[in-house]
Amino acid sequence: YGTASVNNKGHLEIGGVDTMELAAHFGTPLYVYDVELIRKRARGFKKTFEKLGVTAQVAYASKAFSSIAMVQVAKEEGLSLDVVSGGELYTALKAEFPKDRIHFHGNNKSAEELEMALEHEIGCIVVDNFSELSLLEGLCSARRQKIQILLRVTPGIEAHTHDYILTGQEDSKFGFDLLNGQAERALNQALESDWIEVLGLHCHIGSQIFETTGFILAARKIIGQLKNWHASFDFQPSVLNLGGGFGIRYTEEDTPLPASVYVEEIVTEVKNQFDDSNLDMPEVWIEPGRSLVGDAGTTLYKVGSEKEVPDIRKYLAVDGGMSDNIRPALYDAKYEAVLANRPLEKPEETVSIAGKCCESGDMLIWDLPLPKAGRGDILAVFCTGAYGYSMSNNYNRIPRPAVVFVEKGEARLVIKRETYEDLIQFDVPLQEAINNK
Ligand code: LLP
Repeated sequence: YGTASVNNKGHLEIGGVDTMELAAHFGTPLYVYDVELIRKRARGFKKTFEKLGVTAQVAYASKAFSSIAMVQVAKEEGLSLDVVSGGELYTALKAEFPKDRIHFHGNNKSAEELEMALEHEIGCIVVDNFSELSLLEGLCSARRQKIQILLRVTPGIEAHTHDYILTGQEDSKFGFDLLNGQAERALNQALESDWIEVLGLHCHIGSQIFETTGFILAARKIIGQLKNWHASFDFQPSVLNLGGGFGIRYTEEDTPLPASVYVEEIVTEVKNQFDDSNLDMPEVWIEPGRSLVGDAGTTLYKVGSEKEVPDIRKYLAVDGGMSDNIRPALYDAKYEAVLANRPLEKPEETVSIAGKCCESGDMLIWDLPLPKAGRGDILAVFCTGAYGYSMSNNYNRIPRPAVVFVEKGEARLVIKRETYEDLIQFDVPLQEAINNK
């Protein structure tokens, strides 16, 4: 996994740092990010576009993991940034991310969020629906300010990781339906506005996708419509954004393509389609989240209690769980893990890794082969870099873990561990609440 290796003490090492030292110094649970791997992934995407000779923007979907330091890494790597809320936008601004490379997504941006985006003159807004289009037009006109937008369309292709559902009109809360006239009406409405400049279209078909078929089908449908719109009212897009969703390998069962292959196959198809038309080739934008940070993250936990259910199973409980990684409980997501203090030792038994939350569904890994382990051992769960911290919560009033970036033998604390004091910071004691009224 990434730059994970085993050092001469026989410990798991990430980014040149001993994970046992990380656990001792920063405590557990601890999210550890291998920054070199994030950089490598970012450069891989950019290089592939360069090789193909296509002007592109690779926007990091910051919902996968947003923090000031992470946004700064994205900035250092020359990525663009996809934000989906005022909070993610605020984080980007605090990180001094180049505003013209921020793209604002979401199916229900509030007037305040749109105002914030206009105030800071961010690069573009991905408009999701008619009500947002009117709201944005009203705000721009009141401010006498222009904005560039993409229209998010729903091409009627939904990727369910391995297969695709093709529907005439996809039942989705996102985007303008491409094929029933909605997208065309939206485009016409936007083109009529003095304040809105339509850069092009956006679509996102799903997440953790292992093949390029879905992307290619979506691109074909969209480009088909673009050809019609060019013929009927001379619309020439300057951007085609094909979203994110490139899969990664969590366990041996997962068979993603290398990131460069997704880009090569999809962009080659897009190029062919445009070559076959009177349209100029637009810039191609993508929005990877998981495939930039997923396998760069590892969570370190300390093993605590154990419970044997005779003849059935042994539970080993760790000091985190669904509060720092809700994906197993929410999606039945699978992970691999090793003992960080003796990763090379032969597995002797099969155990199931339980979290510490008061909920039977709080199981991180079922049936994991491990050497004999018990209280005090450190468990490293791999591939927790995407949608781990970003979906973490304080269920059972468990403080969120710290986040550490490791690179070239150095460890840096980039998000502090929450304290009990942090947990109650917004609580108003009853008497104070009564007095405040
Ligand atoms: N662009 C848009 C418009 C999206 O909705 C998403 C993800 C992405 C880009 C980035 O997708 P990625 O490359 O990371 O697959 N919480 C779920 C994943 C939700 C994805 C939501 N949208 C999980 O933990 O698997």
